[in-house]
Amino acid sequence: MRHDHLITSKQFSRADIETVLDYAAEIDADPSAVADRHAGTLLGLLFFEPSTRTKMSFETAMKRLGGDVVDMGSIESSSVKKGETLADTVRVIEGYADALVLRHPKEGAATMASEFVDVPLVNAGDGAGQHPTQTMLDLYTIRENAGLDDLTIGIMGDLKYGRTVHSLAYALTNFDAHQHFISPESLQLPREVVYDLHQQDAPGIREHDSLEEILPSLDVLYVTRIQRERFPDENEYQKVAGEYQIDSDTLEAASDDLTIMHPLPRVDEIAPEIDETEHAAYFEQAHNGVPVRMALLDLLLSDDKAIGGEGDE
Ligand code: CP
Repeated sequence: MRHDHLITSKQFSRADIETVLDYAAEIDADPSAVADRHAGTLLGLLFFEPSTRTKMSFETAMKRLGGDVVDMGSIESSSVKKGETLADTVRVIEGYADALVLRHPKEGAATMASEFVDVPLVNAGDGAGQHPTQTMLDLYTIRENAGLDDLTIGIMGDLKYGRTVHSLAYALTNFDAHQHFISPESLQLPREVVYDLHQQDAPGIREHDSLEEILPSLDVLYVTRIQRERFPDENEYQKVAGEYQIDSDTLEAASDDLTIMHPLPRVDEIAPEIDETEHAAYFEQAHNGVPVRMALLDLLLSDDKAIGGEGDE
């Protein structure tokens, strides 16, 4: 078994991404070909924050590869409630499982936890930090709908606390995508992320406070929820709540081929009237989590395959 950890999308080279996306497409076309590949393998699920898509699609992916999961369950029902540290929790559960998937409210938690275990540990979201497996399914969805070459993408909403945004922005530097970031000033991308993107020689990094000026040129619009739970002050959330809502009036200025994505859950960022249009790709995006996570798990758990560099970021 390989012992690589998957912590950040900064680990992904273009070749890694293409390997995962190509393999996910193969699995999507014929899931039965890998149905017994990991019979007997157990995946440990440690979710210290709520999740529907990430947790259930990892569980589905492991079961579709022939394995099963062991789930720590809610914080309330686990010994985290008694004050057990994250380091102790992961050290215990690595004895029960062949790989671990961790979601935690603290940025950096996955990096820290990975230093205490030998089995592969996958970051399923660490606070406002990173969510690299979401990025893989986002890239898969972009490739299916708009292509990854010569891409112009708008990324809109909560860019400060949105971990899916941070992960996606780094990964897109592998493809020289033109990235337009649209947000209120208070929710702009963290300056260190902007700095890093410029250091990667990303060709078109632009920040905007309005969608209007940039919408007609976009191939993809990636909308995000304002992450209420991460605001230190509820009054600050109320100042920006409800900004940037997409409805059919908004889309009059968009290209007919515009693909609209959202990592979900949504609150009120995208009106339900968009769901039945050709633009909407967000439910397809969520469904893509299964073949993409099957591909990632197989690559992480197999001796003969490798992705993500040394995996010790
Ligand atoms: N996209 C995403 O991470 O969704 P969940 O919070 O439901 O896992």
